[in-house]
Amino acid sequence: MTITGKALVAGVMGWPVGHSRSPRLHNYWLERYGIDGAYVPLPVRPEHLQAALRALPKMGFRGCNLTVPHKEAAMEIVDRLDTAARHIGAINTVVVEADGSLTGRNTDAPGFIANLQQSAPRLRLDGATAMVIGAGGAARGVIAGLIEAGVVEIKLSNRTQEKTAALARSFDPYVLPVRWECRADRLDDIDLLVNTTSLGMEGQPPLDLPLDGLPPKAVVTDVVYAPLETELLAKARARGNVTVDGLGMLLHQAVPGFQAWFGKTPEVTEELRRHVLGL
Ligand code: ATR
Repeated sequence: MTITGKALVAGVMGWPVGHSRSPRLHNYWLERYGIDGAYVPLPVRPEHLQAALRALPKMGFRGCNLTVPHKEAAMEIVDRLDTAARHIGAINTVVVEADGSLTGRNTDAPGFIANLQQSAPRLRLDGATAMVIGAGGAARGVIAGLIEAGVVEIKLSNRTQEKTAALARSFDPYVLPVRWECRADRLDDIDLLVNTTSLGMEGQPPLDLPLDGLPPKAVVTDVVYAPLETELLAKARARGNVTVDGLGMLLHQAVPGFQAWFGKTPEVTEELRRHVLGL
């Protein structure tokens, strides 16, 4: 696809941004759908975030994604927030509106749910019970998505207890705090187990969580996608649980942004997964 003078342009702001897989992802879709557009990495220092975001409409950008460390700071800069961004307390997608104003959105929650629905279609979230491990930024998106999808009870366990309590307050009455020492004892009646911590990622120790009490019907998923099969997922698969890796969440969270900037709802396919993994 040739980029012409009329190309639609978007990008990803981060510092550093070199690790981001979003350019591979969005440019694959642009090529696949024959769209005259480009998606570029935007290395933006934290102290320049405001100027960079405000420059988007001036330079004719359609919008951008935000990654570390900008997701929270951008909340104060954009002109309006969608409900999910307000609830989660972070923005991952910015859309430049026709009048040049900026809308901040958070697409992590629908991305998490869409991935589960695609990869574990037999899991019924409506009325389900889940256990979420971790209480950082990723956990907020996951919990918001689960509540939206109809999950009635979310047990939450995190090493730092105060963060568990804070999340339980902001997602009251759905979140039930579970002490870190008790996390393995509370798996017996859940339909879904989610790791939202960085444990299990390349270079990090694995999540220490014996699965003996986990029912065979429970689905296990991880937000970590490098490696694709974390030790947690391997352990769950070995005992017969359905597992869902974290790459799909990354791919699905990108769909609404692409749709808003480039006007086409893109599909998450096996070929896309392979492309983003560099296979
Ligand atoms: P993210 O935005 O990706 O969720 P984060 O906000 O830094 O990142 O959160 C990281 C999560 O991993 C937290 O829940 C953190 O637990 P604490 O709140 O106790 O810090 C969890 N985590 C990271 N390293 C951990 C470890 N060694 N043991 C247990 N939990 C860990």
